[in-house]
Amino acid sequence: MGDTNGPDELLTEVLARYDESPNPRLREVMQAAIRHLHAFAREVDLQRDEWFKAIQWLTATGQMCSDTRQEFILLSDTIGLSTLVEMINYSPTAGTTENTVLGPFYAAGSPTRAFGASMLDDDDAGDKVVVRGTVTDADGKPLEGVVLDCWQSNTDGWYTVQKADGQSEFNLRGIYRTGADGKYEIRTVRPGKYPIPHDGPVGQLLKANNRGWMRPGHLHTWVKHPGFKELITHIFDRKSDHLYDDAVFGVRESLIVDFTPDANGELAANFDFVLDRL
Ligand code: BEZ
Ligand code: FE
Repeated sequence: MGDTNGPDELLTEVLARYDESPNPRLREVMQAAIRHLHAFAREVDLQRDEWFKAIQWLTATGQMCSDTRQEFILLSDTIGLSTLVEMINYSPTAGTTENTVLGPFYAAGSPTRAFGASMLDDDDAGDKVVVRGTVTDADGKPLEGVVLDCWQSNTDGWYTVQKADGQSEFNLRGIYRTGADGKYEIRTVRPGKYPIPHDGPVGQLLKANNRGWMRPGHLHTWVKHPGFKELITHIFDRKSDHLYDDAVFGVRESLIVDFTPDANGELAANFDFVLDRL
């Protein structure tokens, strides 16, 4: 400690202790985090009891985590940090399809479904819909054999991996591939809106801030093709509630589609994917 010992001198001293960190990236991240946390505490004039409450809340958040529940990711999702990290990391070339969050309900090992097949294995009272389009590169060249790994919630808003709604293992999960013309076609049900898990500390915090926990209905796709960036995104239904108050800030205007009757009278939406080269 030097002669004066106010907050500025304290910060300088704390930062200096990290100067010798052998890992330059760790040093950069730690020093930035410390600078921002000190500035935050000063900005809000953080009181001792408030900080203690925050520590109790963070402790409860950790205790809520298990093999099947990641409460810290939910925290990151509900403050927009997950979406920001996706934006920073994917950084699509202009004109290529935007990405969004992966979410906790992906499971590897979905069954391969034929072009135009339905991924609805169970009864569902919702609207049956078709999603179709072409997958191209940024120059508009159709891409053959692109993998579209898809999953979505049922009409009542449940994913089969949540094991809460009596669905069969592969309901509303499927892996599709594009044909030689780059086209794909998925039959499914209109995806239901649903609440993110809110029975833990993150839900309490949302409630305390008068915030909602609903997500608008969407179809998840994880699009893979050699030589291109993997694209993790959603296709949103314009008719769904919560497009403009998505609990996890995942909606992009360019990802919203309209389901309208096609020439065969099926409710269909067109969505073309434009993949970004590596
Ligand atoms: C999802 O879209 O599946 C999701 C994303 C973030 C939090 C919860 C669910
Ligand atoms: Fe989802």
